[in-house]
Amino acid sequence: MTARRVPATGSAADFLPERRMLAALRAAAAGCRGCPLWARATQTVFGEGPRRARVMMAGEQPGHDEDLAGKPFVGPAGRVLDRALEADGIARTDVYVTTNVVKHFKWEPNGKRRIHATSDRMEIAACLPWLEAELDVIEPVVLVCLGATAARTLIGPRFRVTRQRGEWVRARWAPHVMATAHPSAILRAPDDATRRAEMERFVADLKRIPPVLAARAA
Ligand code: URA
Ligand code: SF4
Repeated sequence: MTARRVPATGSAADFLPERRMLAALRAAAAGCRGCPLWARATQTVFGEGPRRARVMMAGEQPGHDEDLAGKPFVGPAGRVLDRALEADGIARTDVYVTTNVVKHFKWEPNGKRRIHATSDRMEIAACLPWLEAELDVIEPVVLVCLGATAARTLIGPRFRVTRQRGEWVRARWAPHVMATAHPSAILRAPDDATRRAEMERFVADLKRIPPVLAARAA
């Protein structure tokens, strides 16, 4: 494939609307050209969920299904996330929003399929103003970073999900911040036993959320 020079400004900040309301942000993000990723994706996949959600889940970037649907976490990884949260009694409908550090699908062709390509530091930095704006508006009580990309971006570059998953850590985005595995990593487990064990750990990490919400409501 020939590389194509795509005009991009270098930052989503160039596209932020004056009015920081979710609808205005979403509409503005649809036209973002802050980094080159917009050109090969179908659409911007902005965060989704109730404005009054108390929990925010941040992943890495939309996948193939999300790119086509225009909504985050609607594909296989989203189903894993939903199952885990259901097991913990946390409903997508009123309790949490899903979003991503990078809002366009980055992919490489593999035959007829489009497979996930990791977003780089420039793309992550360029896109961060959208997530910051979402956090500003929603002001979640709990922010969960799903996987290393979200964790390193939002908690710190030295954060290690393998060692620090499930712990509450300090970060400026929310009163309670933690990171855990990415649901896609659970799907990639080499066998059923590992997948089940990984899912149990994931559910156990997220089980720490309801008590925090209950304490805030009390
Ligand atoms: N993986 C992510 O990180 N985000 C999505 O929205 C879907 C899959
Ligand atoms: Fe803008 Fe983010 Fe898409 Fe890049 S990935 S074009 S910064 S919305």
